Amino acid sequence: MAGTFITFEGIDGSGKSTQLRLVSNFLREHGCETVLTREPGGTTIGSRLRAALLDANEEVDPLTELLVFAADRAQHVRRVLRPALAAGQVVISDRYADATVAYQGAGRGFDSSLISQIVELATEGLVPDLTLLFDISVRESTSRTMRRSNARNKRDRLDIEHADFHERVREAYLQIATSEPNRVKVIDTSGSVETTQGKVKAILIPFLRT
Ligand code: TMP
Repeated sequence: MAGTFITFEGIDGSGKSTQLRLVSNFLREHGCETVLTREPGGTTIGSRLRAALLDANEEVDPLTELLVFAADRAQHVRRVLRPALAAGQVVISDRYADATVAYQGAGRGFDSSLISQIVELATEGLVPDLTLLFDISVRESTSRTMRRSNARNKRDRLDIEHADFHERVREAYLQIATSEPNRVKVIDTSGSVETTQGKVKAILIPFLRT
């Protein structure tokens, strides 16, 4: 039996990881076990790649960055996502291939056909059944990531990119949602965590029932 593959996407500071935690607790309490995973870092080697990719002291060439995200994804697809989906599980991933289109494509400026080829190679054509895109202005997301990094006393390498980088990433995500409205649902996260959680449940619960 084929499982269900759901992804959460959005610019840094959009609130997606908080929402993912809350909704997975909710689903578990209601008897729906989900496999929670993420990119980068959904496998053991992926965790090591994640640490290297997000290290703000690391100088990573954009091509290296693109290929390492793809390597992380190849391992994730083959060792985690495909087996879980083949076993009929509901899998929710905090980021997946849309992030490469948005960050490395629009953010770094790689050609869209190269991005498509690399995404296809790493995913072997595995496309999410549903993607929730958490949307917020760059101004608001930046103040959230600043607060988070001050609390952790640490900033991730991509968080410190300029606002126009994050604007391009946001626009690319919204463009994906416009071109694939059946798969990608946009959720405005400018309200409270509770308000956003209500919107997440309103999409996810009926989807999982079908
Ligand atoms: P996270 O903090 O939401 O887990 O994401 C880690 C960072 O990696 C975030 O800044 C987005 C970035 N990223 C890419 O640039 N390309 C990708 O393909 C993925 C999966 C993440």
